[in-house]
Amino acid sequence: MANFERAIADLRDIGFGQDKPRVALILGSGFGLIEREVDDPLDTHYQDIDGFPPPAGTLGHECRLSEGVLWGVPSLVFRGRFHAYEGHDARDLGICVQVAHALGCETLVVTNAAGGIRDDLQPGSLMAITDHVNFMGINPLAGFERMPGAKAFPAMGRAYDAELTELLVKGSEQSVAIGVYAGVLGPCFETPAEVEALRRLGADAVGMSTVPEVIVARALGMRVCGLSLITNVAGGHEDSHEGTIKAGSDNAPKVAAVLKGLFQSLA
Ligand code: HPA
Repeated sequence: MANFERAIADLRDIGFGQDKPRVALILGSGFGLIEREVDDPLDTHYQDIDGFPPPAGTLGHECRLSEGVLWGVPSLVFRGRFHAYEGHDARDLGICVQVAHALGCETLVVTNAAGGIRDDLQPGSLMAITDHVNFMGINPLAGFERMPGAKAFPAMGRAYDAELTELLVKGSEQSVAIGVYAGVLGPCFETPAEVEALRRLGADAVGMSTVPEVIVARALGMRVCGLSLITNVAGGHEDSHEGTIKAGSDNAPKVAAVLKGLFQSLA
C-alpha cells in the first residue's frame, strides 16, 4: 500500500515543491518524450520515493517524476501512473495526484491512450475529455479511512473544467475532438459486444486509467482537464499493448503541441 505521509515527506526532502509547481501533468502510455521539454528538471524514479507503491514496470510507463518549468509553467510531470490492472489497491491509484496537490498544484492535466468507440475517433485522433463513465468497478475514495484533505462525497457534475477543455481544443493548430471517456479495469481489451454496450451507454472512447486520478483530484478541489490519444479502434482483434505504446510515441509530437497550447495559456 502507498503511504501518502511518507511519500510527501520524502519528496520534500529531495527538494520537490521548491519551484512552487502549479500544474501536474500525468503522461499516458508512450508519451514520455514530452518530459524532455521540462527545463532543468529535478527528477526521481517512483521506486525511489518512500511510500510510493512499487511500480509494476509495465512497458511504456517509465515511472519518473520531474519538477521544473514546462512551457512557461512551474509543473510536476508524472511519466507513468499506477493502474488498477496492475493489481494496485484502488486507494493507491491517486497517489500521484495526492502528492501533486500537497506540493501546491491546483490543476491536473491527465493524458491517456484510448480505444476509439465513436466512428470519427480513428487512430491518431485526439479527444479532449468532457466527462467520464466509471466502469472500473472501484473507487479510490472508498474505504474506512478518509483520504487526507479530500471530500468524502465529491460532486462530479463538472469534473472536467470547461475553460481548460476549451484551451485543449482551441489552443493549438491540432484538431481536437471532444467526448466521453469510459474507464474500464482492463487488462484485456474489450470484446466487440462490450464496445457496443459502452457506445450505447454514452462512451466515445475507452481506456484503463485516468478515472481514479480525476476522482481524487476533484475530491481535493483541483481543476482538471484530460486529453485522450486514440490509438486503435476499440474491440479490434489485433488490439495490443505494444500497438498502444507505438501509437503513443508516433503521435507524441501532436499530443505535445496540444499540451503546449494549453500550458502557454496558463503561463
Ligand atoms: N481499450 C482499453 N484501453 C485502451 C484501448 C482500448 O481499446 N486502447 C488504448 N487503451
